Amino acid sequence: MTGGFETSFKSRMEDSAKKNGSSIVLALDFPFHAAENRGELLFKAQNVLELAGSCMCAVKINHHLVLPLGTFDGVQQLVNKIHEKGLLAIIDCKVNDIGATNQVIAEYYYAAGFDALIANPFVGWEEGLKPVFDVALKQQRGVILLGYMSHKGAGEGYGQLVCDAETGKKTPQYIAFAKKALKWDADGVVVGATYPEKIREIHEVLRENVPIYSPGIGAQGGAAETALKAGARYLIVGREITLSENPSKVAEKLKASIKRVE
Ligand code: XMP
Repeated sequence: MTGGFETSFKSRMEDSAKKNGSSIVLALDFPFHAAENRGELLFKAQNVLELAGSCMCAVKINHHLVLPLGTFDGVQQLVNKIHEKGLLAIIDCKVNDIGATNQVIAEYYYAAGFDALIANPFVGWEEGLKPVFDVALKQQRGVILLGYMSHKGAGEGYGQLVCDAETGKKTPQYIAFAKKALKWDADGVVVGATYPEKIREIHEVLRENVPIYSPGIGAQGGAAETALKAGARYLIVGREITLSENPSKVAEKLKASIKRVE
């Protein structure tokens, strides 16, 4: 056993989804408020976690909380709470630098207790993401790769045609990334729910070997059922829940609607 875990992040996510009866990952995001006291923000995040946590299998934290609350301060308190609830914690830091720096980013976030991080496959393997995968393997943590982002401009990068290094044939960037996810034994690939056809294509490459995480539901216009039917395994949902007047009701409704599709 290394890093306190006996099984891989991928299988711990499966267990969490089964145990909690949910494949929803809560994106614990809140908008910027210049006048907001950091304590108020932490309280707000804890409150949403308390209200909606029982409908989740994991919680994803982004810069929205890391910047104002600090990794080893408020964020670590949240990570501990996430674990107390029997959920897993994912950091959406989109690692995207040289390997030596990527390794330090991974080591700090894993030291803060995160079970997995999100990384950008654009930086490649050697002196890119290999050091991150090495650290993750040693500590039984996860690395989830970007596949096709959920926003409107995603096609400019993820949709461009590239020359496949092995076959020499023209191939869409997101298919090349899906193949890398298999080769690198990634724990997941993020594909926007706003592009169900891309979920389908990427799922054809990944099959059941690497699960698809799908953000973009609700606030960005994607639909949970469509994403699941196209092949998504986990749904990432943020503002639809965090900005709602009644986070527990929205989360419960979403959980119930997904149950009908699964
Ligand atoms: P909303 O409020 O739109 O929040 O439900 C979505 C959350 O997920 C992040 N996000 C992404 N993260 N790849 C990622 O790794 C993506 O394609 C992607 N699209 C959205 C977003 O920053 C927010 O935290």
